[in-house]
Amino acid sequence: MSTTFNIAVFISGTGSNLAAILKNQKKYHYCVALVISNKANAKGLQHAKKYNIPTFCFKWDKNDPNLTIVQKELKKHTIDLIALAGFMRILPAEFINFYKNRIINIHPSLLPKYKGLHTHQQVIDNKDKFHGASVHYVTAKLDAGKIITQVQIRVPNKCDAKSLAAQLLFSEHALFPYTIGLIAQNRVQWRENTLYIDDKELTQPLIIYK
Ligand code: GRF
Repeated sequence: MSTTFNIAVFISGTGSNLAAILKNQKKYHYCVALVISNKANAKGLQHAKKYNIPTFCFKWDKNDPNLTIVQKELKKHTIDLIALAGFMRILPAEFINFYKNRIINIHPSLLPKYKGLHTHQQVIDNKDKFHGASVHYVTAKLDAGKIITQVQIRVPNKCDAKSLAAQLLFSEHALFPYTIGLIAQNRVQWRENTLYIDDKELTQPLIIYK
């Protein structure tokens, strides 16, 4: 039996969150055992190479709801948790249900505000004072699973969607590894359908400050 807490990180693009997750493996007691991408040319795959982590690229096939080849890889690497880090596909319900409470995602908004895309622009258009990111469990409903942690930032007076996204990304790089660590160290637990952190029921997201 493996004693390490093995995670698979799913990416589609740049992979700056993946880089932060890789950098913090020792600190937070988890091990990136596999990086999966639906894009063979995803820039983020280079981070995995640098750390000698196995990668697996696959062509997205919406006619295969179980993602059979992906599941085979996950099994091969005895994956305990799947972390979606900029994975730009909506996973099928069959796949999500198979890995129930074992898939988490980072979303660039203070959920339940702004599910889906273009979150930064919506924050600016609505003149919000605060923006943030959330790490949540993945369910069949988009960006609607139980939120574990969040980070908040103040929206600068002068910014556009691009500069705001860049500023938030910096905080995401602290939030995601920390949250994976909470799960790896068994501090986050599902009991029946209730989520606990350090044995206390999680009634609202844990807010992490940088
Ligand atoms: C991040 O903003 C994340 O919140 C969202 O996609 C972006 C991925 O960025 N889900 P990167 O590929 O990790 O740089």
